[in-house]
Amino acid sequence: MERSPVIRFAYGEQIPIELHKVRMVQKLHLKPIDERLEAVKAAGYNSFLMSTRDIFLDMLTDSGTNAMSDQQVSSMLRADDAYAGSQSFDRAKQAVQDVFNTKYFLPVHQGRAAEHILAQAFIKQGHIVPMNYHFTTTKAHFELPGGVIDEIFTDEGLKIKSTCPFKGNIDLAKLKGLIKKHGAEKIPFIRMEASTNLIGGQPFSVANMRQVRKVCDKHGIMMVLDASLIGENAYFVKQREAAFKKKSIAEILHAICDLADLIYFSSRKVSSTRGGGICTNQKKLYDKLKDLVILYEGFLTYGGMSVREIEAMAIGLRETQDETVIGQSPSFIKYLVETLDKAGVPVVTPPGGLGCHVDARGFLPHVPQTEYPAGALIAAFYMASGVRGMERGTISSVRDDTGKDVLADVELMRLAMPRRVFTLSQVKYVADRLQWLYKNRKLIGGLTFEYEPTVLRFFLGRLVPTSDWPQKLAAKFKKDFGESL
Ligand code: F0G
Repeated sequence: MERSPVIRFAYGEQIPIELHKVRMVQKLHLKPIDERLEAVKAAGYNSFLMSTRDIFLDMLTDSGTNAMSDQQVSSMLRADDAYAGSQSFDRAKQAVQDVFNTKYFLPVHQGRAAEHILAQAFIKQGHIVPMNYHFTTTKAHFELPGGVIDEIFTDEGLKIKSTCPFKGNIDLAKLKGLIKKHGAEKIPFIRMEASTNLIGGQPFSVANMRQVRKVCDKHGIMMVLDASLIGENAYFVKQREAAFKKKSIAEILHAICDLADLIYFSSRKVSSTRGGGICTNQKKLYDKLKDLVILYEGFLTYGGMSVREIEAMAIGLRETQDETVIGQSPSFIKYLVETLDKAGVPVVTPPGGLGCHVDARGFLPHVPQTEYPAGALIAAFYMASGVRGMERGTISSVRDDTGKDVLADVELMRLAMPRRVFTLSQVKYVADRLQWLYKNRKLIGGLTFEYEPTVLRFFLGRLVPTSDWPQKLAAKFKKDFGESL
C-alpha cells in the first residue's frame, strides 16, 4: 500500500515530499510592494475582489484550484456529449458507487446547488438543523426557507490551540438536549461536515459519527453528510483513530459514508474539478430530489455540469481513495502550521485539512472584532508577500436585526493549500513573510465597510482602512527588504 507523503531525511528534518511531478506550469509574478499596496486598495481590501494578475501565491481556496491529474485531463477527451443518457454520467455514477458506496447519484453544478436542493426539499419555517459547524453557503441556503442552524461542536472545537485530534466532532450531550428541547419532528436532518471548514479544516472521528447515527436512529432523524472535504477527513481518521490505522482509505470512506442517509459534495473540492453531487442508497430520497435537480440544475445525466467535468470528476473521486493524493495537502499544511507554531505565530492546532488557519485575534489583539482583524490581516499579509488568503471571521458573518455585527466565534485568516499546486520552497516563503509580519504586527490597523451587500457580504463588500496603516506597513517593508520585493 502506498504511504502518506512524508519522509525523514537521513541527516536532518522530516519533510513532506512531492509524490508527483510537474508537467505543465503557469508563470507567476511577484509584484513590488508599491504595486501590491495599490492593488489591495483598488480591491476594497477584500481578497475576493483581487485579480490573480496581482497575486503571487493564491491561497484563497482549494475550491476549483487543486491541480488535476494527467488521468483527469485525459479523461476529458473521451467525454460523451449528450443531453440525456451520456456514458460520462454512467462512469461518474459508478465512481460514486465505488467510492461512497451509494446507488443513486444526482449531479449538480456545485456544492451550494446541492444545499439549495436539500433546503427546498426538507427545510420549513421554524425547523432546526443541528450540525458540527456551518459553512457560509450552507447557512445562507438553510436559512432562506426559515430554518435555524444550531451548531453543537464540542468545547475543544473552537479552541485555537488544542491537541484534540477530532475538533469536528459533534457534542452528543448538546445533540440530545437539543432534540429534547425542540422535539425530533422539528429537525429535518442532522448535518455532519467532513473536515469542518470554518473551524480550521478539522475532522470528526468515525466513532463520533457512529454515536450521532445511534441518536438519529433512536429519534428517526435523517443524517446528512457534507463530503466536500471527505478525503482529508478519511486521511486524518487513518492517522489519528486507532481502530482505523490498518484500514485502507477506501474502507474508511465506506465506513463514514455508510453512516449517512444522504451525502452531498462540492466536486470543486473533493475531486479537483467543477461540479458537485447528491448521493443516497434510499430510493425515496432520490425520488424526492430528482425533480428539483431537473428544475434547478439540468437533466439528471448532467445536472448543470459539462460532460468533460463529469469525466474528470469520476477520476477525481476515485483518486480520493489514494492516500498519496489526499495526504498531499494535509502534509504541507502540517509543515506550515508547525513551522509557524514553533516561531510563536498564533495558528490553529492541530493542523487540519484545507489550509493553515492563522488566529487573527491572537495576531492583532489591538484590533477590535468590529474592525475585522481577520480581514485586516489578509490585506496586510498580501502587502507583505503577494499571497492571497481568505477571511473567515466577522466579515464572513452577518448583522443582527439591530444592524450590529454578529461577531464570529473565531477570526481566522485561511491560507488554503490547494492539492499539488505549491512547492515546499513556496511554503517556506509563506512561513517567512508571515513571521516578518508577526514581528511588525503593531503596524496593522483595522478596516471598516465602505460598501456592504446584504447577502454573503464577504464576497463583494468593499472596505477601507481605519487609518493610514497600510502606508506605514509598506514603508517598513521597504526598509527591511528594499524596493523590489
Ligand atoms: N460545503 C463545504 C464544506 C464547503 O467547503 C463548500 C465550499 C461548500 C459546501 C459549497 O460548495 O463552493 O462548490 O458551492 N467551499 C469553498 C471554500 C467555497 O473556499 O472553502 P461550492
